[in-house]
Formats: sequence, C-alpha cells, structure tokens
Amino acid sequence: MKGKMKSHRLITENLSSRVAESYRVVRTNIQFASLETQVKTMLVTSTAPREGKSTTAANLAIAFAQTGSRVLLVDADLRRPTLHKVFRLSNPVGLTNLLTQSVAPEIALRDVGVPNLRVVTSGPIPPNPAEVLGSSRMRDLINNLKQSFDYILLDSPPTLAVADAAILTAFVDGVILVIAVAEVSMDKARKAKAQLQGVNAKILGVVLNGLESDSREDHHYYYYYGKPSSN
Ligand SMILES: Nc1ncnc2c1ncn2[C@@H]1O[C@H](COP(=O)(O)OP(=O)(O)OP(=O)(O)O)[C@@H](O)[C@H]1O
Ligand SMILES: [Mg+2]
Repeated sequence: MKGKMKSHRLITENLSSRVAESYRVVRTNIQFASLETQVKTMLVTSTAPREGKSTTAANLAIAFAQTGSRVLLVDADLRRPTLHKVFRLSNPVGLTNLLTQSVAPEIALRDVGVPNLRVVTSGPIPPNPAEVLGSSRMRDLINNLKQSFDYILLDSPPTLAVADAAILTAFVDGVILVIAVAEVSMDKARKAKAQLQGVNAKILGVVLNGLESDSREDHHYYYYYGKPSSN
C-alpha cells in the first residue's frame, strides 16, 4: 500500500449500491429491534482493532440520516479516534471539550455536508479515557443530546483490548457488534458477546464485515441480525 492513502469509504461517496443497501438493511433491522423498547442511542464496537467499527458507525449514521431522522455520530474512541479523518475534519474540539464544558455544544456538533447528520470528533485525547467515558458528565451529555437528536451513534475502541466500550454500554440503549469475518475467530467473537452481555448490553445486531487483510478493495458488508437480547 506504499504511497497510497487508504481512506474509509462512505456510502455518500461512490460506493456500490450493494454496499449502501447492506447498511440500509442493518438500519431497518435496528428499527425493527426498537419496536418494543425505544432504541435511540447505540454503541458500535468490535472485539479486535481494525474490524471496521468506524466505517460501520459512519455509514450507519448516514443511512439513518437519509431517512430524515436527526442523527448524531460521536467519536467515543479516545484511544484511536478516526471519525475526523473519515469526514475530513480537523479535530481541535470535540467530545472531550464537551465533557469538560470548555466549548459550547454548537461548536463541537459539526456539519459534514450530509443532511440531518452532525458529527462530534474526539477532541484532545485525555490520559484516562475509561474514566472520562464512564463519568456522570458523559451520561448527562448523552441524555442532553438525546433531546435534540433521534439517533445517537457512538464509535468506540475494541472490547477485548480496553474496558471503554463495556463502560459505555451503560449509557446506551443497544450495541452493534462488528465482526471482520476473515480475521476474528468465532471464539473471540463469542467472548466479546459474552463480555457485553455480562454488562447487560442489549446487542441489537451483529455486522459481519467482509474485509480481508490483503486486498481491502470491493469487499462488501454482510450482516447477520441476531435476535435482540437483554442479557
Ligand atoms: N468492508 C470493507 N471493505 C474494505 N475496506 C474496509 C472495509 N471495512 C473497513 N475497511 C478499511 O479497513 C480499515 C479499518 O477500518 P476502520 O477504521 O473502520 O476499523 P476500526 O475497527 O474502526 O479500527 P480501530 O480499531 O483502529 O478503531 C480502514 O482503512 C477501512 O477503510
Ligand atoms: Mg475505529
């Protein structure tokens, strides 16, 4: 891949309609999962690094915004934040500034040119991400933002590496687990699922991401929609 910048691909750019369609299918399934209990806030995570969490979170947020819902996508991966790169934004202010209340929300809620979508980048990375994300400030912030948006999606670090994602599940209605089919063993995936269920996460669905390590071109997303479970 020498000299070639690999970028995250968005369904608003020229991705095949099949890929866009698969995100719409995931979106629709999540909407069905919220018939009984309302799902407004979602965490997107995976077991291992680079399984496609950020790509999935961004495209799913776009797919929700395309229905006319007001959507907020938040980079809650304070270990390896990427949403600013995905949307080609600068990252001087973001989530961490909102948490320390050093900026007004309007400044951190960025317009990315997609109607109905706002993105909050990570902001400066703190030395203690887990504590920051698990703080009552974080809970209050999500609750406040819920007043202004129909859906809030949080991007996060992988579950097996750090506790951040498990901690964040306490503040969201459900979790979307991204699994890179070629790279993660079923054993690890099961472990991640058990870990999330151990903290009472409601797993809304599992996105099987068809990326392969050698050639990352033209691999599509497939999904498996698991029955929503509360524990
Ligand atoms: N289905 C796919 N087809 C092709 N490339 C993909 C696919 N999904 C992700 N990628 C690419 O793989 C890389 C990793 O994706 P992404 O950043 O979304 O993963 P991540 O799980 O968020 O990683 P991290 O653990 O670092 O946060 C990116 O370069 C992205 O463009
Ligand atoms: Mg990521």
